[in-house]
Amino acid sequence: MKTIAVLTSGGDAPGMNAAIRAVVRNGIYKGCRIIGIKQGYHGLIRGNMTEMNLSSVADIIHRGGTILQTARSEEFMTEEGRKKALYALKIFNVDGLVVIGGDGSFKGAQKLTELGVPTIGIPGTIDNDLRYTDYTIGFDTAVNTVMDAIGKIRDTSTSHGRANIIEVMGRHCGDIALYSGLAGGAESIIVPEVGFDINQVCNKLIKGRNRGKLHSIIILAEGVGGAMELGDHIKEMTGIDTRVTILGHLQRGGSPTFQDRLLASKMGARAVDLLLEGKSGLALGSSGMDLIEVEYDRVFNQEKEFDMDTYDLANILSI
Ligand code: F6P
Repeated sequence: MKTIAVLTSGGDAPGMNAAIRAVVRNGIYKGCRIIGIKQGYHGLIRGNMTEMNLSSVADIIHRGGTILQTARSEEFMTEEGRKKALYALKIFNVDGLVVIGGDGSFKGAQKLTELGVPTIGIPGTIDNDLRYTDYTIGFDTAVNTVMDAIGKIRDTSTSHGRANIIEVMGRHCGDIALYSGLAGGAESIIVPEVGFDINQVCNKLIKGRNRGKLHSIIILAEGVGGAMELGDHIKEMTGIDTRVTILGHLQRGGSPTFQDRLLASKMGARAVDLLLEGKSGLALGSSGMDLIEVEYDRVFNQEKEFDMDTYDLANILSI
């Protein structure tokens, strides 16, 4: 019998629970002992670990957040911290570790692999900021949450004839802004990958007004910054009343969509299979309908490519 541990790390993302469930259930099905590590690498260093059984993951597939909790651990970045982590893994006889998180979490996993611990990474972040995979777990839910918010803000935008700026998450990546903006019919989408020209944004608003458009929605990715200033600037230049909504952590919660549950379930189960096949140092990803696995270095060495075609399409459709 093998012992496999699982942790979630970095920002939580809807679907992480579905991934934990798949690790636990497939692991037990394949005859493994499964250890859940609480609070990511922070908890690992402290040996905050317990054995999980089939019931530990009952009634969680539909829940946002992570039952294992998560953390961003400074201590694990140090050699001393990693020594403590290794010790805890040894005490619990862990033969392999599944890490669910973003690229920072994968860097931690890579360090452990270099120290002799077999690891597999599962991409769990709402940001979708990893080049090697089509999607990360949580992204689809976050985009749907933003799309829902756009619809609601559009109601009030139309009623008052205002311009509404909606700031969305994504760190340095504009994917949440791009896809929610397209799906929500936003007038302008501002992302760090492209930047923006304030004159163009304002001209588009004025043009819309001139042909009777009542609402204006501008999606601003947080990586660009300055939502309040942008609102003031637009008001100054166009005379249109503006309001700013920063959606913030609202985007991180909620019941995962079908897409996220499916991706998480497939990846969680595959991670266990890979460890049982003796594989290690790999990050799981998606390519079309298929799962792929790549070495960690490929995750870090490739710059995320922005989807300019979709960006251009969004611009055309919102004239
Ligand atoms: O990486 C996910 C994310 O939600 C980013 O979009 C955002 O910039 C960041 O985490 C916020 O982090 P925290 O929850 O630690 O404030």
